[in-house]
Amino acid sequence: MCRYVSERTGSSLSRQQVARLDEAIAQRQGALSAVAYLEHLKSVRGAAELAELMSVISVHKTDLFRDEVQLEAVRTKVLPALLNESPTLKVWSAGCATGEEVATLLILLQEAGASPASTVLGTDIAAGALNTAQQLTFAPEAMKRVPAAIRQRHFREEAGRFALNRELAGRASWVRHNLMDHPYPLPPRGGGFDLIVCRNVLIYFTELAWERVVLALVERLRPGGVLVLGAAEPLLGKSEQLEALRYANAFFYRRRTGHEPPAPAPSAPRPSAPAWRPSPSAPIPPPPRSAPTAAAAELSAVEPDPRTEGERLFELVLEWSAAGQPDDQTEAGLRKALYLTPDLAPARYLLGMLAEQRGANADASSEYRRALAMLKDGKARQTPFFLNSERLKRACQQALLRLGYR
Ligand SMILES: C[S@@+](CC[C@H](N)C(=O)[O-])C[C@H]1O[C@@H](n2cnc3c(N)ncnc32)[C@H](O)[C@@H]1O
Repeated sequence: MCRYVSERTGSSLSRQQVARLDEAIAQRQGALSAVAYLEHLKSVRGAAELAELMSVISVHKTDLFRDEVQLEAVRTKVLPALLNESPTLKVWSAGCATGEEVATLLILLQEAGASPASTVLGTDIAAGALNTAQQLTFAPEAMKRVPAAIRQRHFREEAGRFALNRELAGRASWVRHNLMDHPYPLPPRGGGFDLIVCRNVLIYFTELAWERVVLALVERLRPGGVLVLGAAEPLLGKSEQLEALRYANAFFYRRRTGHEPPAPAPSAPRPSAPAWRPSPSAPIPPPPRSAPTAAAAELSAVEPDPRTEGERLFELVLEWSAAGQPDDQTEAGLRKALYLTPDLAPARYLLGMLAEQRGANADASSEYRRALAMLKDGKARQTPFFLNSERLKRACQQALLRLGYR
């Protein structure tokens, strides 16, 4: 039964979630046999029951202006480039929980000068969360990251809560949608979305579900549209339809238009790092850049930032893997990055993800543990474009739970 719920939600269930789910199922099953109850869950009549079971395992933690570093790159890089192509943007917050992300996106669009015809679609599997989301009204503690000027411009106080101004709120639409179900939503008036934000959702998913969801999300992006995942959810060698957009502080993915000029031959080969003891003297090539289109040029503008060799390689590895390069190269690159810069906790975390992808759970948990220990001891290097230490710590903990470790 738990397996069915896991398949239907895409979620990889931790031991605690399985225990909670078992308890909830035992309470609801009553006199029905396990087989009969499962049939009921699969039936149209059982949909509400299934939704309630799903809510037992859901994590709705969210915030207005969550992950400011990443949002700053959305604000200063992604939105201006997209608005250059069209003043009206169609945005989707997939897995919007209680609406904070939708409110944030509506505000960012308005502040960036998007046309009032721009829209944000919020979807979530959880009916309760979605009901709350539609109010677009928030408790004072949810407002802690909202800059004072934004608060003043876009919210009104009502009975001790903060309501998003009606005009902006009217640009949101809502659909209950399970990312495991097809068809996926379309934007108003059809076409593809300019921007899809799916943050901190896939981190709870099984490998297979993750892959399917990313493919389906990419299909709903217009060519040239941008996908924003959570900073702990980088794509490792998954979609040839995407190119990575790297900034000093964040990493996004752009759906290829198919009209990109061919990439120039790389000036140096990809680092051929032996898996365990890469030679420290092997040169790290300059970042391979495809000749960009006008919009892509703006989107992929590179900012100067002082990085260690390991950090530079780490970023390259992410770029290659997002472009669909094979995983063994990704892994070798990560190991070499760690050889060069041993306190690179995000590289350790990604090694864990790769091991998890190939089902080597013991190796994966060992990598997550090592990353976590580094972070807990304050020995981890802060990587500007990846998760901050606190969030990375939580991502490691979440991954260990996912694998059934406490
Ligand atoms: C941790 S919240 C993330 C909220 C927001 N995106 C953010 O980053 O702050 C994860 C949300 O994903 C939703 N979710 C989980 N599985 C889902 C699925 N299969 N389809 C749609 N939403 C799902 C959960 O209900 C929850 O509200």
